[in-house]
Amino acid sequence: MTSLDKQQLLTLCHRPDTLFELFDEIDSTNRWLQTAPGTDIQFCIAESQSQGKGQQGRQWHSPPGQNIYLSCRWPFPKSQDLSGLSLAVSLAVLDVVQPCMPLTPIRIKWPNDIFCMDKKLGGILIELTAAPDTIHAIIGIGINVNMLPGKNVQIDQPWISLQEITKREWDRHILCAGLMNLLPECLNCFEHQGFSAFMKKWQAVDYLSDKAVKIQRGRELFYGTAEGVDPLGRLIIKNNNTLMKFVSGEASIVK
Ligand code: BTN
Repeated sequence: MTSLDKQQLLTLCHRPDTLFELFDEIDSTNRWLQTAPGTDIQFCIAESQSQGKGQQGRQWHSPPGQNIYLSCRWPFPKSQDLSGLSLAVSLAVLDVVQPCMPLTPIRIKWPNDIFCMDKKLGGILIELTAAPDTIHAIIGIGINVNMLPGKNVQIDQPWISLQEITKREWDRHILCAGLMNLLPECLNCFEHQGFSAFMKKWQAVDYLSDKAVKIQRGRELFYGTAEGVDPLGRLIIKNNNTLMKFVSGEASIVK
């Protein structure tokens, strides 16, 4: 198990001015960036998190030295529609991870679950904080890299790691630096062109496409067939010739 090294990460970053903090242990990289000084684009990486946050108020299992826990703070204009942001970010994560296993396709389960072999390989949690003229998006990315099943790993949904898929250990430096190199490109594109610029790419990796699905939104449940997303990244569901669009919710395939 190799620990993350700040100097090695810097060497792999394309932009020498990439601003990031690396912690051995922290409560949550998202939480740290929410209160971090400054307003610049900044990354936070940790070897472990004591209170890693997942979607829907869940905890994100964050043991030391095995996985990636990385957050990025990005300022958007107040007027920006951010509904497709998590989809665009998940495509950037896919671009960084897919080259590790070119023959095993990664899919994205709307809105932002990174799926491989029908199990969760990673997830994204975006939290927003308002500043005077901007909205700061705190984009948190968790990727299961070298974690293997064991009695200390209690995760309440089917999951998989890069090591489990490829049967080899991965150097997290390359993946972390890959994210720090690619995310600015992705976020710049999203800021200037919106989600519509990512539509084509999304269609190629959409896990739910044409599947019978169930969407849970709060206490409400909706059923139908997933028909892709619209140019704002909203999930389209068809039920008895009626189309419904979802900005948020938890989707699952109905078997
Ligand atoms: C999900 O539930 O799918 C979202 C998981 C997001 C986890 C990441 S790990 C880095 C960042 N810091 C957190 O506390 N959560 C996100």
